[in-house]
Amino acid sequence: MPDPDSLDFSVRCVGPRKVQSPYKAARYVSDEERTLYQTIIDPSRQLGCRCDADAPLSFELAGPREHIYFDPAKMRCGLVTCGGLCPGLNDVIRAVVLQLYYHYGVRNIYGFQYGFEGLVPDYGHQAITLDPQAVSDIHRRGGSILGSSRGPQSPEAMVDALERLNLQVLFCIGGDGTFRGALALCREIEKRNLKIGVVAVPKTIDNDIPYTARTFGFDTACSIAAEAIKGAHAEATGAYNGVGLLKLMGRHAGFIAAHAALASRDANFVMVPEVDFELGGANGFLPHLLHRLQNRRHAVVVVAEGAGQHLFSGDSDGDATDASGNARLQDIGLLMKDRISEYLRLMEVPFTLKYIDPSYLIRSAPATASDSLFAGILGQMAVHAALAGKTGVFVGFWNDRFTHVPLAAAVAGEKRLDPQGNRWQSVIECTGQPACLVNQCADPALADEADLAN
Ligand code: F6P
Repeated sequence: MPDPDSLDFSVRCVGPRKVQSPYKAARYVSDEERTLYQTIIDPSRQLGCRCDADAPLSFELAGPREHIYFDPAKMRCGLVTCGGLCPGLNDVIRAVVLQLYYHYGVRNIYGFQYGFEGLVPDYGHQAITLDPQAVSDIHRRGGSILGSSRGPQSPEAMVDALERLNLQVLFCIGGDGTFRGALALCREIEKRNLKIGVVAVPKTIDNDIPYTARTFGFDTACSIAAEAIKGAHAEATGAYNGVGLLKLMGRHAGFIAAHAALASRDANFVMVPEVDFELGGANGFLPHLLHRLQNRRHAVVVVAEGAGQHLFSGDSDGDATDASGNARLQDIGLLMKDRISEYLRLMEVPFTLKYIDPSYLIRSAPATASDSLFAGILGQMAVHAALAGKTGVFVGFWNDRFTHVPLAAAVAGEKRLDPQGNRWQSVIECTGQPACLVNQCADPALADEADLAN
């Protein structure tokens, strides 16, 4: 939890809003309308609440402003999708384009191809003209019609491109790496004293962006992952001592594994990056797996890709980080497969293990109805924010409201599954796995098998 005194959710504007909005709203939103950051009163815990301050920490509400900064008739906007693919990207692109075109009358809209590369002439990616015809049915497809890429590009080169094209707003659809790139863009724009806005939309199946309850793509990824868990369960129950082992994406955060397990209700063990576990020893995972097989004759094990990285000895081969600066992980799924098999053989237990890695399938699909709805509104809200001149912000979702959140706050924070929180507690309850799988909390009854597992 960050020090509440260090948090600043104030939103920057390109300039004063003097243009009457052409957008016809039943009700306009003012900058003074806010929603509280911390809504739980718990005097026994510091919940990041600046309780004694005159103005409690809060987020500005998103929505149409009566007066806007840019003149839509003269405006030119760009869109870019960056980072890994995510269900709902095309829904956001479509919503932004239709909102700009029909509700504000913006006619010059450009899509930059393959992420931030599209803004750098050296790559030679041509910008695409976007209008209602170009985006008419793209929301039915997975992926991004603009393509995507990882990795930062020179902010100077990107701002040169924005200036050359005389763009007033760039919409950046992406996750934490994209937010860092968008913030670097904002700083370069400010340095040059330009009137260009940068508005981001939070995309990631991992749901690990701070200060938003949800990112688009997460619901779809969890739905597909839950189906995969059902498959693992069918395989596990289809054999004597059947083990269904499933690896799911989730580099630093275990939200997909935890939520898919809760949705399917078929997982018996869930391993996430935020919660330590050991394999052997009195209270390690392996003796508990054996007990589960002895009692129930099948087990489903779900492991998030970032879990158990401490179990690998030595350095990974190749680059330590990817183009987005994320640590390259070792394959915990395959390690678990080997270690479970070795252990059960050693224990002379007959078993069948089926290993399932749905990999990119969980993020390349079209969005679920819930994600489409969410992604579409995020896109609409991003347009309201951009026209109002908001910059250096992303559209968040907090207390059931769409909000404006400074990118600077998001890149300084992180969002992880709380091992002490209700969500993880629900996972423990629903799987029946021990709350602690490290040997400090050993159950003496398991000591014999544990010796063999070491
Ligand atoms: O960040 C989203 C995500 O899908 C992670 O869950 C996963 O670790 C990563 O992207 C993989 O991305 P890529 O292989 O495209 O670099």
